[in-house]
Amino acid sequence: MTKLYFLLSLAVFSLFQQSATAGYKKTNEPDSVYLFSYTTDKNENKNGLHFAWSRNGSEWYAIGNEYSYLRSDYGRWGSEKRMYSPFLLQGPNGSWQCVWSVNDRDNSFAIATSADLIHWKPQSYPLVKEGTSFLLPVVKYDASHKNYLVSYADKGGKHYQFSSQDFKTYSPVKEIRSSEYTDPAISITLASGKVKGQKHRVAWSLVDQLIKTYELKQYKQQLSNELMADDPQRFAGLKDVKTTFTVQPKQAKPISDLLTGIFFEDINYAADGGLYAELVQNRDFEYALSDKEGRDKNWNSSHSWKVRGEASGFSIDSVAPIHANNPHYAVLHVRESGVVLENSGFDGIPLRKGESYDFSLFAKALEGKFTALEVSLVGKDGKVLAQSKINLASGGWKNLKTTLVTTADAADAVLTIKPQGSGKLALDMVSLFPRKTFKGRKNGLRLDLAQTVADIHPRFVRFPGGCVAHGDGIENIYRWKNTIGPLESRTPQRNLWGYHQTAGLGYFEYFQFCEDIGALPLPVIAAGVPCQNSATGGAGQQAGIPMDQMDAYIQDIFDLIEWANGDVSTPWGKKRAAAGHPKPFHLKYVGIGNEDLIGDVFEERFTMIFNAMKAKHPEITVIGTAGPNSEGSDYEAGWDLATKLQVPMVDEHYYQNAAWFIHNQDFYDRYDRSKSKVYLGEYAAFLPGRPSNLETALSEALYMTSLERNGDVVSMASYAPLLAKEGHTQWNPNLIYFNNTEVKPTAGYQIQKLYGNNSGNSYVPAEKSVNSDQDAVKNRIAYSFVRDADSKDLIVKLVNLLPVKVDAKVDLNGFAIAGAKSTRTVVQGTPSDKQLSPVVSDFTVSDQFNVDLPGYSFTIIRIKAK
Ligand code: AHR
Repeated sequence: MTKLYFLLSLAVFSLFQQSATAGYKKTNEPDSVYLFSYTTDKNENKNGLHFAWSRNGSEWYAIGNEYSYLRSDYGRWGSEKRMYSPFLLQGPNGSWQCVWSVNDRDNSFAIATSADLIHWKPQSYPLVKEGTSFLLPVVKYDASHKNYLVSYADKGGKHYQFSSQDFKTYSPVKEIRSSEYTDPAISITLASGKVKGQKHRVAWSLVDQLIKTYELKQYKQQLSNELMADDPQRFAGLKDVKTTFTVQPKQAKPISDLLTGIFFEDINYAADGGLYAELVQNRDFEYALSDKEGRDKNWNSSHSWKVRGEASGFSIDSVAPIHANNPHYAVLHVRESGVVLENSGFDGIPLRKGESYDFSLFAKALEGKFTALEVSLVGKDGKVLAQSKINLASGGWKNLKTTLVTTADAADAVLTIKPQGSGKLALDMVSLFPRKTFKGRKNGLRLDLAQTVADIHPRFVRFPGGCVAHGDGIENIYRWKNTIGPLESRTPQRNLWGYHQTAGLGYFEYFQFCEDIGALPLPVIAAGVPCQNSATGGAGQQAGIPMDQMDAYIQDIFDLIEWANGDVSTPWGKKRAAAGHPKPFHLKYVGIGNEDLIGDVFEERFTMIFNAMKAKHPEITVIGTAGPNSEGSDYEAGWDLATKLQVPMVDEHYYQNAAWFIHNQDFYDRYDRSKSKVYLGEYAAFLPGRPSNLETALSEALYMTSLERNGDVVSMASYAPLLAKEGHTQWNPNLIYFNNTEVKPTAGYQIQKLYGNNSGNSYVPAEKSVNSDQDAVKNRIAYSFVRDADSKDLIVKLVNLLPVKVDAKVDLNGFAIAGAKSTRTVVQGTPSDKQLSPVVSDFTVSDQFNVDLPGYSFTIIRIKAK
């Protein structure tokens, strides 16, 4: 951005501020004007509601160049979220109702309400008559009956009508004569062409606010779009900057010691093929076309498997399986010539020379006679790298095990199974685990990946998502009970990110991992509603769990608490003990909901769950949710609901441009301390192309100083997402990338790790003075002083997002330090650097000391305090 552009932006902002001053009105402005509401078919009808205004009803001006004041949130990402024929009407109490058609298939429509056309309440999607589609709505207010009358056409050309007083309850839909349906929509001509919609008479002040809202949004967007690539112009001529930080020891305040946690979701192959150490892909033969909604015809029960020897040597069956939850298994049709069944793993099976691999499977001879199975690990060149034989006995399903020890390294071996005998042999749950898992756990986690995660020193682990927690449609909601117990009895399911979840990494393994790394478990459970972007299950969030099933759903949550915390004498505590963990897991936090649409369907179910939890388990801190953004209808409604119910903590999510984090450092400084605490459950800085580099990492580091400063209201935070497997990535950026043999922590990872290992539980304020009067300069220097009660260390974090060095002077102002010996850790580089290596050195401090903060750097000084 050029300097001129920047100055212009400032001018727009100061104009906005002036005119927003209460009572300010230009005397030559009209009292009222015409307002026109409309949409267009641009961007596949996804642009939502626009406005234009006119003084005389004939010359019209589009507000904000077709800015969208309301967008449809109905249905799935990508293919839906469309608004057709919005009908806007102002009701008797002044509130605006907007009703629109969502598509020409579903028997539902969308309704949203607003007092000012700027802030909208969350949308809802009521159902109309089954078998009809909802097109071309017309809304009237019938003052005599105090009712809104909604008429609509359906695809077949018939017309219908229903009424509602409040758009919460509705009369039955009745068919009306087509002559009774009249659409009052009119067309107007804008500079961009003709548009169709409704004309309203409104106060000029309303239009004025619409215009200013647009201008403010534009201004904020310009700030958020700032890139460090433009710093040479933005800071042209800037010389080294001098800053003083004067610590205010007397104003220290306690802050949360849970500020760095991790968000784990099975996205980007984070679980199967990732953290979960299983090396056999589709071990349960449960991959299904529906996992990918039929888009990949090879994604079925035989995916990753192939048979050598006889083309017809392999089929899938489901008669008398090992367990009803795992219905499919492989059948090998073995003749004299023999067949070999081969699994190619997740992009091949990585092996390390001299290490042990635990193989297991279930087998049953269906016909003929089999004496043994020869199990081998074979390199790409056909060389056998490990081999073992398992004897087979006749009878029903048998669980057979052996260990393979490898003679060489391999990046992409295959597993082969060769039956000895002939007839038909059923196989299922074919598994291969490295013996070396994290902490040596059986059914455990990949050692290098888990260790990289553990090195962050996270205070909590959120699981199983993200959207995986609330699922794609009701049937896909993550049910914790399906993920515990013997592996063959767990219920695998479609992963909404377009693949398959075996549930091998289930609740027991999540809790075990938390314990192994000294982190608190934070399970997130759907609030009885699936993801608002669901592709299946009908009208998005319309399809909440039926109310008559909610008691059972809540009982499942109670059972989880008993499973995690109950004594071994309790039914669920007993199951935990049977799984190998008699001691409780000390569950303290449970999230209910994941960035949901806070509509009626959500509110009813969340309230029911929250009240039940409060009554039965007051010892558990319930975390509510406030939508997927840092503003907007779900954010506002989520917070309103949390305030009404006095929910102890609210989960906020926002993925923003890197510069947004610079320009919103005060986001939490203005939070009301008497309301719910905050769990910033998902956040990350974005740049064009979605890299993780020094620019994103430093923007996050800078913002995290504000999380520490506001650690009295922000209790927890977790960057998202955590893991991504190369070649299987649905989302960028992530904290840690990996393939089968390498782990590649990002720049953002280094920042999280530095925070995780340098946290405190009290915040010591400081005063900052900078020898510059440019806000852009001052905003890019951030600090945080925290004290850790255990080590007694005072930890100083200093961020410099400027291209020039900052000469910093730290005045400890009498803060009692134990000695001069401290350490300094610095990350620095150029904004596009992808890899960061923190450099640690000894550092000497005194009551007043100087430290150079290199351009684009993050510095941590750890001082021993008395
Ligand atoms: O972190 C990736 C996704 O982002 C999560 O699943 C979802 O909660 C959010 O939209």
